Amino acid sequence: MGVRILGVGAYVPDRVLTNFDLEKMVETSDEWIVERTGIRERRIASEDQATSDLAYEATLRVLDRTGMTPEDLDMIIVGTATPDMPFPATACLLQARLGIKGRPCFDLEAACPGFIYALEVARGLLSIDDTYRHVLVVGAETLTKITDFTDRNTCVLFGDGAGAAILTKDDSDRGILSAYLGGDGTLADLLYLPAGGSRRPASIETIQNREHFLKMKGREVFKYAVYGMQESVVRALELAGVKPEEVDWLVPHQANLRIIDATAKRIHLPMEKVYVNIDRYGNTSAASIPIALAEMEDRGLLKPGQIVVLVAFGAGFTWGAIVLRW
Ligand code: UT7
Repeated sequence: MGVRILGVGAYVPDRVLTNFDLEKMVETSDEWIVERTGIRERRIASEDQATSDLAYEATLRVLDRTGMTPEDLDMIIVGTATPDMPFPATACLLQARLGIKGRPCFDLEAACPGFIYALEVARGLLSIDDTYRHVLVVGAETLTKITDFTDRNTCVLFGDGAGAAILTKDDSDRGILSAYLGGDGTLADLLYLPAGGSRRPASIETIQNREHFLKMKGREVFKYAVYGMQESVVRALELAGVKPEEVDWLVPHQANLRIIDATAKRIHLPMEKVYVNIDRYGNTSAASIPIALAEMEDRGLLKPGQIVVLVAFGAGFTWGAIVLRW
């Protein structure tokens, strides 16, 4: 018995922040941002919108698309690095909004590959026995809440959004064919949020030092990201026994168009087979892949039987790829 994605849905906040808006905020230019990243604009959550609100909207859309109700969901996993609060889990807040008291719910923090990690955990739980039949997997982020809009090195990169998928058991040949996950915690300080946890609890000093905003050594992260994304795709394809030329769609985490290009080149995949929406949303971390899948569904790009490869790399470092037959 396999596990497949029954449907996907996504939500992004209404407010658009363009590169031209950023030109007025920091020493940058539309030209630099487009050339170095491929990003033209991103969405920004409103002051009263938290991650669970975005997750809720994305969930309503996947329920609508699959014709299911919240009661059909047996478990909720939310992949996020920007939870509403350290606890309770964003998944619990989402469960309450959905009105399905009693169903298990937890967050999974694996940064940008959070959705891929969560898919693999859900696959494992669905495979155990008949306890769970439908698992809701959400990737949701409000990264702009931890972005320092005085730091041009990072503030041009990130955006907010959410995507949701419902997973179910499936005895056809459709579904997840392989997953390859990896991590390297020795490189944690290349991309991290210094304060607000037990290492550096919130204090006047942490606020004055702007330690509640994410820090990234972009150039170094870039090198590891290219390698991590490429290796993940190659290893996951090997595990699935799928040749690169059989791939119909590569759906990569949207961190940088140059990283996406390099990943596609590694398996000689033409860019027509690579889904790119970084120009409109920037880097939405764990939300980027499910947002892309939902858009692809909306546009009728995903056809049953197609081979789809999901791949991501992020803070931790963590990385991973999933090969599936749609
Ligand atoms: O989500 C997964 C994890 N994240 C990633 O995968 C992101 C990985 N890193 C990247 O995507 C790229 O490294 C960045 C887009 C962050 C930066 O691009 P880069 O080509 O690596 O630029 P750089 O950091 O080497 O900076 C080049 C120059 C520097 O100036 P100098 O020192 O050469 O004079 C920067 O100060 O560009 C400058 N710079 C900017 N200039 C205009 C940095 N940010 C900006 C900016 N506007 N926003």
